[in-house]
Amino acid sequence: MSIISTDITRAKAILEQNDLVAIPTETVYGLAGNIYSEKAIKAIFETKKRPFFNPLIVHIPHINYLENVASYVPEKARQLAEAFWPGSLTLVLPKKANIPDLITAGKDTVAVRIPNHPLTLKLLESLDFPLAAPSANPFGSISPTTAKHVETYFKNDIQMVLDGGPCQHGIESTIVGFEGENPVVYRLGSIALEDLEAVVGSILVKNKKEQAPDAPGMLERHYAPKTQTILVDSVIEEIKKHPGEKIGVLAFKTPVQDSTVAYHIILSENGNLNEAAARLYDALHDMDKQDLDVIIAERLPDYGLGRSINDRLERATVST
Ligand code: TXA
Ligand code: MG
Repeated sequence: MSIISTDITRAKAILEQNDLVAIPTETVYGLAGNIYSEKAIKAIFETKKRPFFNPLIVHIPHINYLENVASYVPEKARQLAEAFWPGSLTLVLPKKANIPDLITAGKDTVAVRIPNHPLTLKLLESLDFPLAAPSANPFGSISPTTAKHVETYFKNDIQMVLDGGPCQHGIESTIVGFEGENPVVYRLGSIALEDLEAVVGSILVKNKKEQAPDAPGMLERHYAPKTQTILVDSVIEEIKKHPGEKIGVLAFKTPVQDSTVAYHIILSENGNLNEAAARLYDALHDMDKQDLDVIIAERLPDYGLGRSINDRLERATVST
């Protein structure tokens, strides 16, 4: 029997028993549990096989709830929250003492956002606790952007995926922390850097592990297909290096004319970066099912969401 359902009342009941439900958001599906339940939070880490040093994002229903989670909100954090919530912005702020250490991996900060999905907002409003929700994939794998992706990963592990359709944005939230009063981007994501800067002025990006010891989740290899994946500027040149192999090509907008390519996905025929982001993970899930020897991915233009997509593709192509 399928675990996919649109029954929000059932989702609420499962969460109130401190069990897990996968929830839709505008970015990716999350594996959600009660932030105040040790049972639920441990189950999140165990189900994902996620190391305990990697903290979770707290999802709240409205901006007034922020004071229950954060002990201090810098002025620029407030401006960003007002501009982008509900939405794909996660703020890392000094935490309130009652936020469990399991959520924050023992750190004195907490990551928090208001997701922008009607079903999940309704669910959050009906609960009397916030939801911790990492992306609903096994640690290191491609994030899920449909209920079906989650079911494929976790049908034997969780009771329910709340079906909210395909995720509108398709890559994770942009994570912003603070050095004193100054914002710093720890993870590029669904909100373009340029859009944040339009609100608060220029922002540093520290999304590499060595630059950001404060962002423990920024692993080099992540979001990775099982098939060997290569990120290049010129797909045509790379194809020549793989004679006799079964090649998949993930191109931005222009198909390559090469009869040796076995499988081809175009992210956006119109060259629209939002559309490309929305399709990225589904394309990688799809490619991974085609029994290919290699996936050759084309680098996108390095601005707007193109930058966030390139960040994901770079991590997806680090080999172990
Ligand atoms: O779009 C999203 O953010 C999705 C949806 C479900 O909301 N969630 C998501 O969660 O991407 P996850 O667990 O896959 O990624 C959370 C990231 C990790 O890299 C983690 O290290 C970082 O947030 N993080 C969480 N708490 C933090 C903190 N206190 N300081 C720095 N980084 C933190
Ligand atoms: Mg994740």
